[in-house]
Amino acid sequence: MSDKNKVIIFDTTMRDGEQSPGASMSLEEKIQIARIFDELGIDIIEAGFPIASPGDFEAVTAISKILKNSIPCGLSRASKKDIDACHEALKNAPRFRIHTFISTSPLHMKHKLNKSPEQVLDAIKESVTYARNLTDDVEWSCEDGTRTDMDYMCKSVELAINCGAKTINIPDTVGYTTPSEYTKIITTLKNKVPNIEKAILSVHCHNDLGLAVANSLAGVSAGARQVECTINGIGERAGNAALEEIVMAIKTRNDLMPFTTGIKTELLSKASKIVSNATFPVQFNKAIVGKNAFAHEAGIHQDGMLKNRETYEIMTPESVGVKKTSLVMGKHSGRHAFKEKLNDLGYGNVTDDVIQAAFGKFKILADKKKHVYDDDIAALVDDSLVLDKYVINLKSLKVFAGTGEPQRAEMTLDVYGEVKSTVENGDGPVDAIFKCIKILYPHDVKLQLYQVHAVTEGTDAQATVSVRIEEEGKTTVGQASDTDTLVASANAYLSALNKMIIKRKKTAPMELKIQKVKGI
Ligand code: KIV
Ligand code: ZN
Repeated sequence: MSDKNKVIIFDTTMRDGEQSPGASMSLEEKIQIARIFDELGIDIIEAGFPIASPGDFEAVTAISKILKNSIPCGLSRASKKDIDACHEALKNAPRFRIHTFISTSPLHMKHKLNKSPEQVLDAIKESVTYARNLTDDVEWSCEDGTRTDMDYMCKSVELAINCGAKTINIPDTVGYTTPSEYTKIITTLKNKVPNIEKAILSVHCHNDLGLAVANSLAGVSAGARQVECTINGIGERAGNAALEEIVMAIKTRNDLMPFTTGIKTELLSKASKIVSNATFPVQFNKAIVGKNAFAHEAGIHQDGMLKNRETYEIMTPESVGVKKTSLVMGKHSGRHAFKEKLNDLGYGNVTDDVIQAAFGKFKILADKKKHVYDDDIAALVDDSLVLDKYVINLKSLKVFAGTGEPQRAEMTLDVYGEVKSTVENGDGPVDAIFKCIKILYPHDVKLQLYQVHAVTEGTDAQATVSVRIEEEGKTTVGQASDTDTLVASANAYLSALNKMIIKRKKTAPMELKIQKVKGI
């Protein structure tokens, strides 16, 4: 297979994905995600929108310094200030991409930009030329591309290429297109834009009608050679095309789609887990990475599977890195064996402090729980990874629940180094717990989501609780695991709250940050 069939995988989990409510990630989480993406074989990592916030600027800067294989990229509007911020954040990387965009649909040009089509053409010329003077890897996107007049799109694409854009991205910003329509758009560009051979066409599909993956694949079949996507399909509203689905569709149906990607598919599960830990849980029936994606419940299916797994399996769980849940260690296992296990599970580069904290929790868990599985250990490490950044931590919790009495929680918290206790009644034990937290650290957030699921099987399984809270339009998600669902609930709420506290700090105006970086 020749290189013309190689599809470039452009991941935007940390930019478009982070724009999804509740998906904001801390710097540490983004660095952890960038490392696994680098290993996974992603070609381009869009690490953020540097002008948008100091947090994004910091993340793009940090990520651009650590990538070994992937090329870092930052997003900018069609403005010199945006492009400068991108350049400042990326310039330490040996190679980097600046991605600049402007809307081209009549609706967006009139109501969002208040610009005429001619003014938008001027902005394209100015922004792409400006970016091209800072790097030879410039991507240009026509926002709301699928609702853009085709002749106007051809004109603007030709102009962007003439100004030096090497990648032309056609976003289906509002998830409106269909596979046949998108095929037509890509085909028309290929046929009508005179200089199209000088650029790579890229697809970027949102999932509002559940068609993001189908549309992306249609675009590739029509000649696009870059796909923009996110792990777990996270993104604005209904999300973006899911990276794992695109890659596995190409791999599994290579007879119909004879393309290649550089993705090491055995790492997909791990990448999905790292992203879901930082954002929100993946639905059980999610293709490729959902908990049930390779589970067979019906007797007739199980019977078929035992005779020949291909009867009901079109790809193997191993091909995406799903291993059979394995029993790992018991309470007599030592630190050395624990460290080895962490290595096997892909946590080879966690610090000694994290190992120490996770090992302590493992010992407690092994005392409580008959079987400790790989997933249990992963949940312990994931919890320990974030703890040292938290300013409010649970010291102890007692809950009185059951029939006949009001439910009551007794809680002690460490709040910025001060130990505080309270007792509160609630409408149920979880309500009592959350009330205690509100008393000990007065705050005003809205609880948007509270979700519990089991990490492994059995009544002694650890529960993972996810909590999403909202404050002045900002949302954060916290997750925690414990064999005691109520302890996990308290820790999940505290995790979301701690992330909100971190987020509040990251609101200094961006201009100041850039001036600081430039020393002006
Ligand atoms: O969906 C979209 O239009 C985008 C662009 C900024 C590329 O995300
Ligand atoms: Zn998008």
